[in-house]
Amino acid sequence: MMHFHIMTLFPEMVMAGLGTSITGRAIDRGLLSIDAVNIRDYAFNKHNSVDDYPYGGGAGMLMQAEPVYLTYEAIREKINSREGKEISKAPRVIYLSPQGKTFSQEMAEELAKEEDLILLCGHYEGIDERVLEEIVTDYVSIGDYVLTGGELPAMVMVDTISRLVPGVLHNDVSAEFESFQDHLLEYPQYSRPEIWHDKQVPPVLLSGHHANVEKWRREQSVIRTAKNRPDLLKKAQLTEAERKMLEE
Ligand code: ADE
Repeated sequence: MMHFHIMTLFPEMVMAGLGTSITGRAIDRGLLSIDAVNIRDYAFNKHNSVDDYPYGGGAGMLMQAEPVYLTYEAIREKINSREGKEISKAPRVIYLSPQGKTFSQEMAEELAKEEDLILLCGHYEGIDERVLEEIVTDYVSIGDYVLTGGELPAMVMVDTISRLVPGVLHNDVSAEFESFQDHLLEYPQYSRPEIWHDKQVPPVLLSGHHANVEKWRREQSVIRTAKNRPDLLKKAQLTEAERKMLEE
């Protein structure tokens, strides 16, 4: 069982996204828990505010240190009290930010080994640096573009990590055999009918000849990767014949 704790000003957004489909089912089946904690619930002043102007001036508002810290402490307590646990080791706290290390399948595989993960979603122009220094263990970006907040990036991470948790996908093989594991893109797939809009399913897939099917799929993966993501091929294990095919 893996526990995600998401620190956010928009818990409904996170739960609307992750409470359905495969992650939703995994929660119902007790394989995951996703707890979206509203930072505003830990506002410490009478105005319920969680943001303020940046010292030194500049555009926009900053999330203040204290509500973020109080939210973090509440999550730590929740983890500690689970199953009567005494005191847990400090869980990893991931701050979603364009300044972080770029998220990858490899990172997802490493994080999937954790029992608890805390994801901190920023908003406005960011968060007071002092609380980040105190609680954040990992800075992660989902790519070189800027979103309005960390919620969608947190959802991307939870979704990607969740499908690596044993039992979340029905067939355990499918998580392994997919794109990026072997640094190749997926081959094209087809289902019924055999002809659609005058397009035939490649005959080899109807042949029942498993070795030929595997050979065709592998070749398609290699061709697709060369065409769409040649950068991935550097790490892919290609045969001599495959390297030759690509040169032609
Ligand atoms: N917050 C805003 N943009 C982001 C990005 N690209 N990755 C992670 N968090 C973000």
